[in-house]
Parts: sequence; structure tokens; C-alpha cells
Amino acid sequence: MTAVSTHPQPMEVVTTVAAVRERIRRWHGEGRRIAFVPTMGNLHAGHMSLIQAAARHGDRFVASIFVNPMQFGPNEDFAHYPRTVREDERMLAAAGCNLMFMPDVAEIYPQGLEGSVHIAVPELSTILCGRFRPGHFEGVATVVAKLFNIVEPHMAVFGEKDYQQLTVIRRMVADLCMPVEIIAAPTVRESDGLAMSSRNQYLTADERRIAPAIYQELGRAAARLTAGDSHFAEIEGAAVRALESIGFRPEYVAVRTRTLELPGPDSRELVVLAAARLGRARLIDNVQVSR
Ligand code: PAF
Repeated sequence: MTAVSTHPQPMEVVTTVAAVRERIRRWHGEGRRIAFVPTMGNLHAGHMSLIQAAARHGDRFVASIFVNPMQFGPNEDFAHYPRTVREDERMLAAAGCNLMFMPDVAEIYPQGLEGSVHIAVPELSTILCGRFRPGHFEGVATVVAKLFNIVEPHMAVFGEKDYQQLTVIRRMVADLCMPVEIIAAPTVRESDGLAMSSRNQYLTADERRIAPAIYQELGRAAARLTAGDSHFAEIEGAAVRALESIGFRPEYVAVRTRTLELPGPDSRELVVLAAARLGRARLIDNVQVSR
């Protein structure tokens, strides 16, 4: 009789596509349900909620750490994006992750960024944040499609904090008939309401004090919508002005349907989204409304 170990397996860390595939093939053969969390590392409590959702839904759990150059614009923070790989590895292992995939850029883009096939998700990629970050969502869709093909997960978890990203990925998965269930995890906030983000580290102490106002303004807009107000442009304008008056440089505040279309007076399921710069940081947040 063979003894079956009840001890959890230690997490493996791999850097190549071939090494991931080898593990995945074995797990698929054993009938395991594979849950996947793609990340750019610098893990915080917001990521840990994605990771907990993955651990709840699957019986093998894979996380990737890859700062994806394709989703950064030429003047964005790719070079300075915080990289904390050892701490990330410790956190993932403690959360029960089975496999951490940490490729380098050449492993993901062997043909280079320009030579790679790109996945474009029309319309959704060019509105809201897409207007201010041309090419960003194409970069996100491309890397997520590649990671899905490498990891072949049954399900993958994305945060509602990046609501437009979540919507772009849902559309890509539906349009390309990818057999991956997309699970949305709620935004995790600091005690003063600021949505957790790696980019909060760019805020000075003074900026950090006013940063929660973005969530407060979204809350004010949501309250008007819930009360039946459908003067969307007026609601958006009031939030933009309020943010400007305290030092933000808002890119947009927008009321949309849950699939990011323009709403009508009878739209019931809405989301209010905002992006605003504060000092060196670009903050995004959103609040969902049912009315
Ligand atoms: O949300 C992120 O961290 C990234 O956009 C993702 C989904 C890992 C793709 O690089």
C-alpha cells in the first residue's frame, strides 16, 4: 500500500513556458481544477484577495509575476514599476500557491514586442483609460491571452479595481471562445477608502492624505444615481470639479453601464469610474450602482 502524504506541496517557482506546461499537463491528467492569478508582482492585500478567491475556486493554483512591457506607454513607469520578487514569492507560498511563473521578457515575447501578434479588443480598448493610455489594453489583452495559453487554467481571477481591464478580458474570452471562467474579486481598500494599488507608493504624505477623495467623490456620484438622478453629465462634471479643487488632475469621471456603454435614464446597473493624477501617481477607482 502506498502512503498518501497529507502535507501540502511546497510552491515551485519556474521561469519557462516549457516548465509550466510540464506541471499543467500532469495536473490536467489528474483531473485537477486549475485557478490562475496573473499579476505584475509587488503583491499587497488587494492581490491577496484575488489569490484567496483562486484558492477557493480551484484545487491547483498558479500565479504569474510579469511586468508586461507591452502595456506601458513610452512615458509610463515600466522601468520604475516596483519589483519585490522575493517578498512576492514568500507571500504566494504562504497563501498556498502551487506554482509561481516568473518569466523574463524574451520568454513571453520571443519575437520582440513589435514582432509579436497583438490582440486588439475594439472600442472597449480606446474609451476611458484607453484614451489616455493608447495601446495599454492591447498590451493587457495580448499578455493575458498568452498566459492563458501557457497556463490553460479553468478559471482566472481579476480585480474589480481595474474595471475596464476586467471588461476587456471578459470580451476577449467571449469573442475568442477561450475556455476560461473569469472571476471578479471586489476591490480591497485601505481603512480610509483608498483602493489598494502598487502605484499608491508614488504618493507623498500630503498626497496620500487627500487620495481617498477619489473614492468619496465616486460615492457621492453613486448616491445621486441611486436616488434616481440621471443627469449623468452633470454628475460627472461635479465630481471632476470637486477633484480639481483639491489638487487632483482628473482624466475622466464617467457613468457607464456595467459593460461600459453609455447609459440611458432607464439603465439600472451602472458603474461610475474615475482616473485622476495626483502628483506622480495615476489613480483609478470605480463604484458599482444598482438602482
Ligand atoms: O492587472 C495587472 O496586474 C495586469 O494588467 C495583468 C492582468 C497582470 C496583465 O499584465
